[in-house]
Amino acid sequence: METPSACDTILETIGHTPLVRIRRMNPEPEAPIYAKIEGFNPMGSVKERITQRIVEEAERRGDLKPGMTLLESSSGNTGIGLAMVGAVKGYRVVITMAQRVSIERRQILRALGAEIVFTSREGGSDEAWDLADALYARDPARYFRVGQYVNPDNTLAHYEGTAEEVWRQTGGRVDWLVLTLGTCGTLVGMARRLKERNAALKVVSVEPQPRHAQQGLRNMTESRVPVIMDWSLVDERMTVMDADAFETARDLARREGIFAGISSGTAMFAALQVARRVKRGHIVTLLPDRGEKYLSTPLYPEGPGPS
Ligand SMILES: Cc1ncc(COP(=O)(O)O)c(C=O)c1O
Repeated sequence: METPSACDTILETIGHTPLVRIRRMNPEPEAPIYAKIEGFNPMGSVKERITQRIVEEAERRGDLKPGMTLLESSSGNTGIGLAMVGAVKGYRVVITMAQRVSIERRQILRALGAEIVFTSREGGSDEAWDLADALYARDPARYFRVGQYVNPDNTLAHYEGTAEEVWRQTGGRVDWLVLTLGTCGTLVGMARRLKERNAALKVVSVEPQPRHAQQGLRNMTESRVPVIMDWSLVDERMTVMDADAFETARDLARREGIFAGISSGTAMFAALQVARRVKRGHIVTLLPDRGEKYLSTPLYPEGPGPS
């Protein structure tokens, strides 16, 4: 592989992540699964794509000016991406989040200089969203409200970026796209672009069970559906149970050498279901983040591994 030339800032290393074929976990030779490994982004998640895009589009439009503070509700990855972008560009960053978010995520945010405002003890992502709206309402001139659930620049990052990368990396061979839902930015952006390129493409959206432990994802029956969601792009909806997501994430590490987060287990479990059912066709999924942020969670428990 060619050695890349020097970058002006760390932001230039966002995106262009590898697409890797899943070998041992997939029993269907005629239905290959390719996984886009977003853990290769500099802070380890897909969300850096959207934080860079949202901030730079807002700067271009004049909505975001020097001295303003970036404000967002986040379960961690978007906050971390924003904190990185804010550090490079010199903006203060305030993140509202649920208390149950893993300790690593809070520590990383603080290391990058961001300030965290927590919800009540029981609060989830909807309460964090409302809290960010309330802070904004108190002082709108001070903040740039990032709004990942409502801001179309979220989907644009995937429409122009992630989808085009997959199209090139597969040489245009994508029959099934299997993607998890959080803000829905990844699915809407990628599905829209790839369906324009291949009208026969089938899109499977993947949600966690109700009252789930799959960080970063939303069950659309119990939580609000993000404004940017477009259900007309979805051909099939799947739900994944926590136990299957966790076990599949562990399998990704042990059997494929891919150390990823819980939602990557969710995505891969669904992709394997599709492969077993369709038996033939190219399946693409996306693994949203790296595993390190989950070391304090039940995903990778301490103690001896399997003998
Ligand atoms: C770990 C993780 N997985 C999946 C997602 C879902 O991606 P999207 O917000 O594009 O739907 C997120 C989003 O926050 C996430 O943090």
